[in-house]
Amino acid sequence: MSTLPAVVRTVTELRAFISDQRNLGHSIGLVPTMGALHHGHLSLVDVISQHVDTPIVSIFVNPTQFGEGEDFSEYPRTEQADLEKLATTNTALVYAPSVEEMYPNGDVTTVTVDQITEMFEGTERPGHFAGVATVVSKLLLQCMPNVAIFGEKDFQQLAVIKRFVKDLHIPVNVIGGPIIREADGLAASSRNVYLNATERKTAGQLNVILKNMIKSVRDGEPIKQAENKTTQQLLDAGFSSVDYVSVVEPETLKPMEELAMPARLVAVARIGKVRLLDNMPIE
Ligand code: PAJ
Repeated sequence: MSTLPAVVRTVTELRAFISDQRNLGHSIGLVPTMGALHHGHLSLVDVISQHVDTPIVSIFVNPTQFGEGEDFSEYPRTEQADLEKLATTNTALVYAPSVEEMYPNGDVTTVTVDQITEMFEGTERPGHFAGVATVVSKLLLQCMPNVAIFGEKDFQQLAVIKRFVKDLHIPVNVIGGPIIREADGLAASSRNVYLNATERKTAGQLNVILKNMIKSVRDGEPIKQAENKTTQQLLDAGFSSVDYVSVVEPETLKPMEELAMPARLVAVARIGKVRLLDNMPIE
């Protein structure tokens, strides 16, 4: 068995490690995660390894991005298993701070992003993106990596992060990693463990139904009609509700009524309390 990656829990230790790496002339990559790692997360380490010498993975379940009634306390925390998985990758260091380390003085500073957060996940989960933008800003400033990677699985999150990094002139190259899927096409997610066997089977229909929608839209079906039809198909397939199914402009997330390239299909359907996110390019 390969040895587990080293873990540090403070900003001071993180910066000492990075300073040593910089002295060796090594470039730094950051893969922010909340742990409960699966092959989607591991793929981000593989991708960033092609860009930098020293990939660092952060594991931090960020309280400020969970809304009231969301799953912050139940969110799976599996550090030992996470380290074992990371041992199979090029991870040079794991940064796993406590909540006190990340938010020591009851911070009064928040990073908020307008416009692009005013739809989809932003309206379904009020305050979520301020929590994400704030913690990702902190992580980027603590680490000062050359490259940071985020999954296309959370497509709006990636767009929000690219936008505030640009607006705040944070000197980091933000890149996206492709969505990693299970055998039936369900996007890998830490929250899939909440699904029982029947629900898991239903969940596998989301990507199939979305692919069919893309085909119809490409064949000329009006977008609004395709969205409504897809919503009904998801409900018929056993999803409890559909938060949104929308064709958007990929950089601004602005919904489209007439198809124009480039375009992205974004969707969230629920099974019980579990929200399943997916998105695909329309090519
Ligand atoms: P988390 O949900 O743990 O995801 C960490 C990273 O893995 C994110 O960039 C996410 O988009 C990516 N990811 C998740 N599932 C994936 C999949 N199936 N294929 C490819 N990439 C996938 O997203 C967060 O954590 C947090 O919001 C964070 C950015 C760490 C800030 O707290």
